[in-house]
Amino acid sequence: MDIVSRLAGVIGSENVSYCDSELQSYGVDRTTIWEGNPKAVVFPRSVKQLQDIILFANKYSLKVVPSGGRTGLCGGAVANNSELVVSMDKMNIIKEINLDDRSITAEAGVTTQQIQVAAAENHLFYPVDFASSGSSQIGGNIATNAGGINVIRYGMTRNWILGLRVVTGSGDILNLNKSLVKNNTGYDFRHLFIGSEGTLGIIYEATLQLTEPPKPSTVCVFGVEKFAYLTEVLKICKSMLQVNAFEFFCNNALSRVVGAHQYQRPFDTESPFYALVELENTEIETETVFEVYSKCVDEKLITDGVISQSIDQARALWRLREDISETLWHFQPYKNDISVRISKMADFLNDVSQLTQKNYPDFEIIWYGHIGDGNIHLNILKPKNLSTLQFKSFCDGVSMSLGELISKYEGSISAEHGVGLLKKESLRFSRSEDEINLMKSIKKIFDPNAILNPGKLI
Ligand code: MLT
Ligand code: ZN
Repeated sequence: MDIVSRLAGVIGSENVSYCDSELQSYGVDRTTIWEGNPKAVVFPRSVKQLQDIILFANKYSLKVVPSGGRTGLCGGAVANNSELVVSMDKMNIIKEINLDDRSITAEAGVTTQQIQVAAAENHLFYPVDFASSGSSQIGGNIATNAGGINVIRYGMTRNWILGLRVVTGSGDILNLNKSLVKNNTGYDFRHLFIGSEGTLGIIYEATLQLTEPPKPSTVCVFGVEKFAYLTEVLKICKSMLQVNAFEFFCNNALSRVVGAHQYQRPFDTESPFYALVELENTEIETETVFEVYSKCVDEKLITDGVISQSIDQARALWRLREDISETLWHFQPYKNDISVRISKMADFLNDVSQLTQKNYPDFEIIWYGHIGDGNIHLNILKPKNLSTLQFKSFCDGVSMSLGELISKYEGSISAEHGVGLLKKESLRFSRSEDEINLMKSIKKIFDPNAILNPGKLI
């Protein structure tokens, strides 16, 4: 009997798929570089089944790729080497909303949006949000410590995790932090699993902290002549109002999105860059939003701008930023997701800009990102005359120079997308050799037979 039929005997054949189209789609994430080639895809429906799969994989030396909504951008969920994909699609129940604790407990396969909706139905708020919230799963968000558009105000996924339940690489079941707010009892393994990219264990359930919904907000888009002005605009916004989001995009990004979706440009004047700012305000403070605008104009930081006058208008402005990633996806972008401290942002942007002009003179470069968190997404679009592999190896080469620069600024080669397969070679620019060796030692403890997510992260 082959190994997969044997596994089907353990967890039921209805929970195993070998169908070609599923093997391909479950073998990849949103990167367009690798082709999926797993041995099979399994869909555990209970913790017991998940544990049985992991024990089985240990016994028969099967490599396992944990799989959520596969919206990742670094190849963290890619299975291209006959691995077994363990999809959390069927563990998708919201188990409890606790109004006293202001928390929600959900299985890993529940989508981010389902969490947001369930919170809102209970007059609460789950603040982690990004364009792929409709399909990304909470287990994957936690395994990659997802960021998104509200980080400047609410922080990353890590800040919202009260408790985690995991099956480790050796098949042990752990209940981490028991959803407590205060718990000073030694090493907090919960935080080790957050951002571990499925290399230590599989998260099957999480309890998330909820909070009260934000006040109504106003969304502004400002045209900005120079990169350096963006951080000045941010300072003014922060000094006058509560900033929920401070995003930016370049004119190429705007043109691509507007063209693809037949959206309207925010205003007629074209600028090299745009800042999208979400300001939380009460009615009394509405005046202040106009003051922010006037101050930025007076200081010649912005050339034009629009301030939303309705919820629909605010939503339409957000689409200009939120739809960039999906629009670009069709052009096979090489994605850089880099960050430095906000105070170093202006100098860093200047240096990155010079580096890209020198190395990518004939490529279309699209800049956008969460400038309020010090995080920029630098996307290089694949020219038609290069194959995927030629393009990747050229960009990988430039990534080494970019890595040196990031290292000089003590920044990060992956601010929020994770490391996966794509950024593994660059990890050394952000983490020391000692740190990487410690990570390897920690992995050995939780996953002694190295069955989990081979080749990813470290
Ligand atoms: C975004 O900010 O839109 C997401 O991180 C996705 C991306 O960078 O493409
Ligand atoms: Zn982003």
